Amino acid sequence: MFLGKMTRAGLGMIAALGLSTSIASAQESVEVLHWWTAGGEAKALQVLKKDLEGQGVSWNDMPVAGGGGEQAMTVLRARVTSGNAPTAVQMLGFDIKDWAGEGVLGNLDELAAKEGWDAVVPDALKGFSKYDGHWIAAPVNVHSTNWVWANKAIFDELGLKQPGSWDELIAALDKIKAAGYTAVAHGGQAWQDATIFDAVVMATGGPDFYQASMIDTDPDALGSDTMKTVFERMATLRGYVDDNFSGRDWNLATAMVINKEAGVQFMGDWAKGEFLNAGKVPDQDFLCFRFPGTQDAVTFNSDQFVMFKVGEDRQDAQMKLASAVMSPSFQSAFNVVKGSVPARTDVPNDAFDACGKKGMAELAAANKKGTLFGSMAHGHAVPAGVKNAMYDVITAHFNGEYDAATAVEELVNAVESAQ
Ligand code: BGC
Repeated sequence: MFLGKMTRAGLGMIAALGLSTSIASAQESVEVLHWWTAGGEAKALQVLKKDLEGQGVSWNDMPVAGGGGEQAMTVLRARVTSGNAPTAVQMLGFDIKDWAGEGVLGNLDELAAKEGWDAVVPDALKGFSKYDGHWIAAPVNVHSTNWVWANKAIFDELGLKQPGSWDELIAALDKIKAAGYTAVAHGGQAWQDATIFDAVVMATGGPDFYQASMIDTDPDALGSDTMKTVFERMATLRGYVDDNFSGRDWNLATAMVINKEAGVQFMGDWAKGEFLNAGKVPDQDFLCFRFPGTQDAVTFNSDQFVMFKVGEDRQDAQMKLASAVMSPSFQSAFNVVKGSVPARTDVPNDAFDACGKKGMAELAAANKKGTLFGSMAHGHAVPAGVKNAMYDVITAHFNGEYDAATAVEELVNAVESAQ
């Protein structure tokens, strides 16, 4: 319309002044809601922002702080309810299915077919990126959540080896504590408690028990003696956390390990982004290893950019965003910084550091062996209602409100009423 009314001379002048591209780029923008506000996360996001800006698409940032994304989901609900959905939203697992069910998401089928996404995105992720056979989201990465991040100087100083079992872990934590350090750096927020819980469930009961309890929510598994042991172990770990843990953000807990105040943190591999951002090097300054007893299994979550239905004027930029996210070079550049590994299976591991290479190899091995499971804590095992019911019990127990036997009963009841 605007251009239609311009005279030839006017158009010529715009071209001469080089304004035509800036008019086009002013019209192209994406608004992206996410919770990547920690140093390493923000740095990784810059990779995407720059990529799009290079294509003339401006980036409208909508960060909502709060690891695990709970607050982000609350803000999103308000935005969509008021009829003003962002272009794209960082989202995890079952939340994606919920939004798809509401019929408010866009359709990426054409782009996905053109770029051959079906052949390069593993089924475990596709289960969330597609709904009713249609692509609705672009998977950015795969994080795995059953990691330990350790301060190498403390391990060297105390002559500690990487623990491979529960007993070895406790022996190591005892030594770290006795030496005057905080043994376990932890932030007391429900999703962080649940991240440790996932690992302890896997370590205590093994893959079949994880499947039965965290994914199938089988009442026998949830109410079992094994689950009681899981809660007892959680209480044991609570004894290695410092007094100020309540409400602490995960990245501040990571900083305690980085700064040699604490020995280890149990956290997903986004923690690596914080070490790298602080200039630390794997195997030199810090160690990454699987939570003892979970060496052969991987619990994962995948950040996906879910595309909402937007007006025609915003669709071209939305597709550019989706295409940028799925490009192999972006998947390498972004995940090297973020601590995760590519969502695509065809991205070479050359650019990744020792922890990244290990993460990629272990993910592939677990996938082959059938020991790759969605993380309950990070929305990939059960729908949000059940997850939140589990969170409540795990956190109440971790804060000493229940003993292990009561926690088991509460868990069975809470899950039953949330279903
Ligand atoms: C997300 C990560 C993020 C972490 C902490 C997880 O749920 O998948 O991308 O770094 O939360 O914010």
